[in-house]
Amino acid sequence: MNNILYLAPLQGYTELEFRRSWSKFFTGFDLALSPFIPLAEGDRFRSHQLRDIFPDENKELPVIPQVLGNDPEKFLTLAHHLHDLGYQTINWNLGCPKRIVARKKRGSGLLPYPDMIRDILEKIIPDLPLKLSIKTRLGYYSPMEFAELVKVYNSFPLQNLIIHPRTGLQMYDGAMFLDDIENALPQIKHEVVFSGEIIDFESYEKFRLRFPSIKSWMIGRSVLSNPFIPEWIKAGKIETNEQKIRSKLQHFHEELYCEIRYRIKFDRPLLNKMKDYWSYFSHWFQKEQSIFIHLAHLDSLNDFNESVKKIFETEELASFEARSNRPLTTNSKAFIHI
Ligand SMILES: Cc1cc2nc3c(=O)[nH]c(=O)nc-3n(C[C@H](O)[C@H](O)[C@H](O)COP(=O)(O)O)c2cc1C
Repeated sequence: MNNILYLAPLQGYTELEFRRSWSKFFTGFDLALSPFIPLAEGDRFRSHQLRDIFPDENKELPVIPQVLGNDPEKFLTLAHHLHDLGYQTINWNLGCPKRIVARKKRGSGLLPYPDMIRDILEKIIPDLPLKLSIKTRLGYYSPMEFAELVKVYNSFPLQNLIIHPRTGLQMYDGAMFLDDIENALPQIKHEVVFSGEIIDFESYEKFRLRFPSIKSWMIGRSVLSNPFIPEWIKAGKIETNEQKIRSKLQHFHEELYCEIRYRIKFDRPLLNKMKDYWSYFSHWFQKEQSIFIHLAHLDSLNDFNESVKKIFETEELASFEARSNRPLTTNSKAFIHI
């Protein structure tokens, strides 16, 4: 059986508009995990957050809804609602590293408390109308926390365990704890999905050879920097026709812009949203830094649209073969909208 490729949840990036536009022009993903729906929102999640995972809107790339929170009652309410919509699986986010989330013992903030996780699972699993998948890190403070967590995860029927092998404190940078995940794998009784730094065919092969028991892989930031990645990984070769690459990227961008335009009616937030995307999309071109800085300073949507048009017409594409040397981070990590 072929390996399964998931689109990772990237809050602020891989929402419905991205998933739909991406699916129009690229292939390679079998499934997507939605960016998290916070349980804390109570009944308000019924409107715009549910639109993101509404099955009719997600036909091209099937999505598994992800939730974030620690309240069993709210979890079950949302789970029943998702089940009514036709979903078979729900994913619980135990990985979000944001301080504001972790401080409230949500996301990776729950990882130092395996007894609390056990307690929550004991309360939800008997009444859960669908299968449960969990996305976790190796710990919050240290990967040493993982051994206890594995014991908890092993005591429940899970569909799979998606692991990003960092700690919560690390956020999204720093070395991944590959030895720790390797040592833990034989103890885990669930199917494991690996999430972290698959940026090209070489890195995918490296992880696949190192962890032969893993058959499912999740790709996140690199698909923003190169939307062809899953297609090239599955094909085992890259597209070299520059004209084709440029045209697909441009059409994809136009589609994404239109999709987002439909949701965000006002120019300023729309401009800011597109600038966020360009902190990754600028990697499509050789002069990524100057392109990003130029776009980041624009103040009007008209100027932005004209600039983007010109970029696609005139700028040299990045050398996609040389991806492995590139960082996964955005061009501007602490990008402040001006
Ligand atoms: C901007 C951003 C938003 C993210 N949002 C989520 C999220 O909503 N839920 C989640 O489980 N992980 C989230 N992640 C983590 C990714 O899904 C993924 O596990 C992580 O980025 C490592 O994979 P990558 O190196 O392929 O990007 C987010 C990561 C980033 C950088």
